[in-house]
Amino acid sequence: MTEEFIFGKLSDGTPVRAAKLSNKNGMCLTVLDYGATVQSLIVPNAAGKPIDVVLGYESAQEYEENDAYLGAVVGRVGNRIGGAAFSLGGKTYTLAKNDGANTLHGGTRGFDKRTWDLCCGENEIVLHRVSPDGEEGYPGNLDVQVRYALGEDNVLTIAYTATSDADTVVNLTNHSYFNLDGGGSVLNHKLTIGAERFLENDNGCLPTGKFLSVAGTPFDFREEKVIGRDICQENEQLRCGSGYDHNYVLSGGTAAILRGAESGLCMRVTTDLPGMQFYSGNFLTPRRGKGGQQIDYRYGICLETQLFPNGLQFWGFPSPILHAGEQMYSETSFAFTAE
Ligand code: GAL
Repeated sequence: MTEEFIFGKLSDGTPVRAAKLSNKNGMCLTVLDYGATVQSLIVPNAAGKPIDVVLGYESAQEYEENDAYLGAVVGRVGNRIGGAAFSLGGKTYTLAKNDGANTLHGGTRGFDKRTWDLCCGENEIVLHRVSPDGEEGYPGNLDVQVRYALGEDNVLTIAYTATSDADTVVNLTNHSYFNLDGGGSVLNHKLTIGAERFLENDNGCLPTGKFLSVAGTPFDFREEKVIGRDICQENEQLRCGSGYDHNYVLSGGTAAILRGAESGLCMRVTTDLPGMQFYSGNFLTPRRGKGGQQIDYRYGICLETQLFPNGLQFWGFPSPILHAGEQMYSETSFAFTAE
């Protein structure tokens, strides 16, 4: 069942529309047309208590100032592009340096700060926009669609489709911060990641091109582990990311399983994408969230399925190039169970 409503107004008076999608089990997703943002995702636990498992804000204007990308779709190229430039077809494209010397999450005004067209189907919310040629420095008119579908099996699927009229680069993901207890630190959540390797980062959280084995390191989540167990270990890579902020090389099958500490809720992530940025909310600063709720350092984790960051620069990284006239498609599912 879907329902549409006006969520609020941006500072220039533009209305922000929202759509609510619910299933028979009481699971309920709210998506905004601004940033194609997941504003709320309510999942009842085994005792029937509704738990909002994503961090979010109460007002449209807080989303405008959303420096942490809470719930948004990031693009045209999510994550980082080293040196804020890339070459394609013999031409160099210069982008905004909005993260030190690099570009982060699409640039100064990425997809998270744009208003999308929103429409609702029976069990889905579909967002669409055309990112014009030259927007944030990227070539090609990019036609993008993000489809959120919620099943009666408590599976939320996010499907991304994009086409361009000129060769370009694309790497889309959703930047929801999950907290399966509905609040507090996530360091007590348990996490499994289906990856044997992760990408080494430099000090700017940019992959160096080197693949590292998780074995014998704090990055090993092949067996379920409490997130906070090793996060403070003396480790060069943890220091680079100020915690976990790394792209895992997914082995295929389940990408991740997250388990709340108190709620009994569990989320299983599957994807057709090769990588997943596990970000442990290391740069989250204190702020007010929905219903006056406190948001703070490491109060949510992001499991951002994607192509490897800085993919144009390294041989062996999956290519983010989308050729003119071709279609890019990917999907990621988040399956919830209550124990
Ligand atoms: C993550 C990224 C972090 C940080 C965050 C936004 O996706 O990996 O390094 O930039 O977004 O605060």
